[in-house]
Amino acid sequence: MKKITKAVFPVAGLGSRFLPATKAQPKEMLPIVDKPLIQYAVEEAVAAGIDEMIFITGRNKRAIEDHFDKAYELESELEAAGKEQLLEFVRNVIPKHITCIYIRQSAPLGLGHAVLCARPVVGNEPFAVLLADDFMDTAPGRKPVLAQMTDIYGYEKCSILAVQDVARADTRHYGIVSASSYRADLELVSGIVEKPQPDEAPSTLAVVGRYVLSPKIFDYLQHLGSGAGGEIQLTDGIAALMAAERVLAYRYAGQRYDCGSKLGYLKAMTAMGLKHPETGEGYRAFLEQMHLGAEAK
Ligand code: UTP
Repeated sequence: MKKITKAVFPVAGLGSRFLPATKAQPKEMLPIVDKPLIQYAVEEAVAAGIDEMIFITGRNKRAIEDHFDKAYELESELEAAGKEQLLEFVRNVIPKHITCIYIRQSAPLGLGHAVLCARPVVGNEPFAVLLADDFMDTAPGRKPVLAQMTDIYGYEKCSILAVQDVARADTRHYGIVSASSYRADLELVSGIVEKPQPDEAPSTLAVVGRYVLSPKIFDYLQHLGSGAGGEIQLTDGIAALMAAERVLAYRYAGQRYDCGSKLGYLKAMTAMGLKHPETGEGYRAFLEQMHLGAEAK
């Protein structure tokens, strides 16, 4: 299998848990402090050495295309106003060597269907999938999560799913794997099921929004009918792939925030707001003040 140079970003979901914020824009455009979720995910892919970004878009594709495109009017206005630093931010949203490709998913038929839409561009190469609403933060000095996975791919040469342990009560929100231990932080996947009820889940090891996949998955996705929730599920494609090829589950090093949910989004905003050089100090003081206020009540 070859080096991974392509990343797929499914951004065509309805984002119904975030309505009305997602009425006219995809949830992947929600900002964490000053950058949209999708930009963090693209930066993670760039850090993993990927140079072709494939966005699977839906009805609200404009905002994402515009975000990664050149903004002539805005740039000339910032230039005329001498706002050099802002101009740099706007110009450097994406490095020059990166190619962006947009594919329209005709209807939100499910994550498996969204990934299948990338087939004409991905072809017969291994590729990464990033769900930008799973926001990943890593400790200073650690590689971002996708780069950790592409490093493992470099010697294991097989599909890899990012996983984390979740509370048993939460298994119904995730794809859950059954697996046996393989090496440090890696498990060999022997089964995978989408959104099982807690009493039916084979384990509490949940798949989160980072994948390295073999192109063989397309053959299986193509023939899938709808699964859990009436959608074409990536999980079902992986279950079929697993019977033909090795699939590993990787306990990534990092902190994940589920930004598809309101609470996860607020937590991510707080974590990053405290780290941001412009807001950190003031935000910390504000939170301390709020905390004192709460105790006084
Ligand atoms: P979610 O399961 O979070 O669904 O999708 P959603 O529709 O975006 O959000 P809710 O549940 O209605 O609030 C997981 C990922 O798969 C993408 C989404 O954009 C998200 O990144 N997706 C999902 C698609 O691109 N197409 C689909 O048909 C379904």
